Amino acid sequence: MDLRQEIEALESEIRRLLGEVDSLEALDRLRVDFLGRKGKITLLTKRLGSLAKEERPEAGKAINRLKTWAAEALEEKMRAVKAAVRARKLQQERVDVTLPGRRVPAGREHPITLVSREITDIFTGMGFDIAEGPEVELDYYNFEALNIPKDHPARDMQDTFYVSDNVVLRTHTSPVQVRTMEKQRPPVRIITLGAVYRCDSDVTHTPMFHQVEGLLVDENITMGDLKGVLTRFVHLMFGRDIGVRFRPSFFPFTEPSAEVDIQCVICKGKGCRVCAQTGWLEILGCGMVDPAVYGFVDYDPEIYSGFAWGLGVERVAMLKYGINDLRSFFENDMRFLAQF
Ligand code: DAH
Repeated sequence: MDLRQEIEALESEIRRLLGEVDSLEALDRLRVDFLGRKGKITLLTKRLGSLAKEERPEAGKAINRLKTWAAEALEEKMRAVKAAVRARKLQQERVDVTLPGRRVPAGREHPITLVSREITDIFTGMGFDIAEGPEVELDYYNFEALNIPKDHPARDMQDTFYVSDNVVLRTHTSPVQVRTMEKQRPPVRIITLGAVYRCDSDVTHTPMFHQVEGLLVDENITMGDLKGVLTRFVHLMFGRDIGVRFRPSFFPFTEPSAEVDIQCVICKGKGCRVCAQTGWLEILGCGMVDPAVYGFVDYDPEIYSGFAWGLGVERVAMLKYGINDLRSFFENDMRFLAQF
């Protein structure tokens, strides 16, 4: 094959290959194959010497034309490939800014947490401090020092989980009264909030629930103070238009004892299914601290008097939010919890 034919053959080979190339890497390989130090066009130049002298200038020009053309063709193809690569990348990374964003589901506070905080805020706002006590409690604090001796029938009021003979899961928050008075002289003004346990489970009872206990002891404290504090609590919690009544009751650690009813939040006192047609709902137990309790903590009942109360947080939350099944608080159903 003479040089002229070879040049033509190389040119058509390059055309063909350029048509197939679709990446920068392949293009680079092509450049090396033809224009590199050992490339096919470069090797062609080296063969000039073997031509007859008069043929060389013509042949040299032809090779140079091929070289220039090939370099330009490669350059042009490179621009085209780069543009194609960029277009492909843009297509792949396309973002539809009109699509709606993905919502990150946010957690909510449990209704019991919300009501607990509201109750706490009301009483701390009146000047009560917050006290704490253990949930696994000595029989002594849970019963004995609250004037409920062993074999006292009042123990039947509460179905106790016994850990051992002397240790129970506290059945109410009242033991914190005794623990606080043991540590502190009057004036005492505390509330305590937490879980309590009873061996009881049905539509209106769960084995664990929450109470808020309050205690105020000082000189010259009367039933009038008790009524004032608890009436104010009800008004702040349920609204000023809600009626409140104090009904005589019995607790071993208070004398006299009372239960507080509020006008039914559902029917506003007219009588409905929730209040069993009475128009009233019981919300807490309370009373003047029994002198017998002072005996256990060495307070002189001739000098000091005070009152205490205990209320169920779930009950308050049910009335406040109109929830009719106690168990919904413990099922962790997001559809229920997301409503508050
Ligand atoms: N401890 C009682 C209970 O769980 C509630 C209670 C009643 C607490 C009267 C008191 C109180 O402090 O004075 O049933």
